[in-house]
Amino acid sequence: MAIKYLFQAGNYISKVEDTLYGSFVEHLGRAVYTGIYEPGHPLADEQGFRRDVMDLIKELKVSTVRYPGGNFVSGYNWMDGIGPKENRPVRLDYAWLSKETNEFGIGEFYDWAKKTGVSPMVAVNMGTGTPQEAGYFVEYANIKSGTYYSDLRRQHGHEEPFNFKYWCIGNEMDGPWQTCHLEADDYGKKALEAAKIMHWVDPSLELVACGSANTMLPSYPDWDRIVLERVYPEVSCLSCHHYFENATGKIEDFLGSYVLMDNFIKTITATADFVKAKLRSKKDMMISFDEYNIWSIEGEPWMDFFNQDPSRRFTKAPPLLEQHYTFLDSLVLGGLLCTLINHCDRVKMASLAQLVNVIAPIFTAPNDEAIKQTIFYPFAWASQHGRGKALRHFANTPCIETIHGQTKTLHSAAVYNDEKKEIALFALNLEQDKTQDINVVLEGFGNAKITKHLELAGCPLSAQNTFQTPNAVVPHEKPVTAAEQESHILSLPPLSFSLITLEVDGEQ
Ligand code: AHR
Repeated sequence: MAIKYLFQAGNYISKVEDTLYGSFVEHLGRAVYTGIYEPGHPLADEQGFRRDVMDLIKELKVSTVRYPGGNFVSGYNWMDGIGPKENRPVRLDYAWLSKETNEFGIGEFYDWAKKTGVSPMVAVNMGTGTPQEAGYFVEYANIKSGTYYSDLRRQHGHEEPFNFKYWCIGNEMDGPWQTCHLEADDYGKKALEAAKIMHWVDPSLELVACGSANTMLPSYPDWDRIVLERVYPEVSCLSCHHYFENATGKIEDFLGSYVLMDNFIKTITATADFVKAKLRSKKDMMISFDEYNIWSIEGEPWMDFFNQDPSRRFTKAPPLLEQHYTFLDSLVLGGLLCTLINHCDRVKMASLAQLVNVIAPIFTAPNDEAIKQTIFYPFAWASQHGRGKALRHFANTPCIETIHGQTKTLHSAAVYNDEKKEIALFALNLEQDKTQDINVVLEGFGNAKITKHLELAGCPLSAQNTFQTPNAVVPHEKPVTAAEQESHILSLPPLSFSLITLEVDGEQ
C-alpha cells in the first residue's frame, strides 16, 4: 500500500529564502589556500581564484558564503588582510595552529564572491576583538567615502563600498575551545555594544548573534535565552551550529540525525519566543543555521596531526578536517536539508560548513583537479529545486525507534516554485531493506506531470568519490513509466535520497 503524500495549493509553511542555501569558507586548512585561491594553478584567474572551483560553486547555486570563520575569526584582525599584499603581516592562527599569511583578505573575498555570484556573510571578532574594531570593519566595508577607513578601502583599490549585508557577531563564543570564550551574559553584553556601533555605522545591517554551538554543551539552551535577553532588539537572527556523526555506529541512528536537528530548531524557536514574550517584543527572532554538516569529529584527529609531528604546527594551509564523504553521508545530509526546508518559517539562513576541502562538498588537489564529494548532490538538488514556497504535506509514514526517539522512516520536504510551475519533492528512505511506495496527491495545482525522478541509491554505504573514482557515487535518473505518470505512485528504494519534480498548471 503506497503512502499518500497530500499537497494542497495555499497550504505553505513559508517562503524558502535563498539564504537557506549558503555555505562557509574559513581560513582553515586548505579552504582558502589551494581551495578557492591558488595563484599559479593552471585554472586560476588573474587574481589567483580557481575557476574550476568557482564553476562547481555556481553549479551548487550557493547563495551566501560566510567568511572568514569559524574559530579562526576569534583571533583574527581584519586589518591584517588589507592593503598591499607585500606589507601584510604573517600571523599565528591560534584556532587551527596554522600560519596565516594574509595574502587573502577581505578585499579578495569581496572580489571572489562577486565573481562567484555569492553574497558575502562576514563575521567580526568577539574573542580578541573589540566592538570598536567591528565598527571600523563596517566603516571600511560599507561607508562610501570621506572617513578614515572608507578612504583606506578606496586607496586599496575598491572605490565603491562592499555593502555587506549579513554580519555575524562573533563565532561560537559559548565553546570553551574558542579564543577568548565568554560566558553567556558577558557575550550578550559585548555583542550588544558591538551591534549598536555596527548599526550606528550602517543601520541596514542584518546581524546574527551567536547561539549554541551544539546541543551537548552544558550551557545549551540557557545560553540562547541569556544572549537573546541582551541582544534581541539589535539582531535579526540567532545562530545554530551542529555537526552530525555516526556516534553509535547504527545506520538508523545516523540517518535519524535529522530528528536531532529538528529538535534543536524547535528548542531555539521556543526559547526565542519566550524571550520575545518577556521583552514584550513584536519581532520574531529568526534562526541562521550557519554551520551544519556531517563531521566525524572522533574520526578526524586534527589535533593528532600536530601531536604526531610537532613541526607541523604553524605551517601554511595544513590539510585539516579533510573528510572524505561516503554514500551514507550523502543520505544523512539529504535528511538534514529536508529539515531545514520544513523549518523555513524560522530558519531564514543556513550555511553548509564548509565549501571546499574542509568538511566540504568540493575537494581539490593542489595544482590539479577538483572533484565533487558525495554530499555535493543532495545540496545541489535542494539549492537548485528547493526555492519557492515550502509545502506543508501530510504523509502517514511508519516510524522506528532510534537514539533520537521516534523517527519517521520516510523523511521529506516539498517546495512549490510558482515561476517554474514546479513542485520538487525530496525524500529520504531510511528503511534498510524495504522499498517504500509513495502516492503523490495534488490538490489545487491543476494538471500535473512528473518531469524527473533522480535517485542517490544502490551504492555501498562506504563508497566515496576519489580522484581515481570521482563518479563512484552519483545520482541516477529513473525513467518515469506510463503507469507512474498515470497513478503518481513512485517507488523509493531502501537507503535512498530522491528528488522528484512535477510540472503543474499552477495554483488554481
Ligand atoms: O567548521 C569547522 C569549525 O567548527 C568552525 O571553525 C567552528 O565554528 C566550528 O566549531
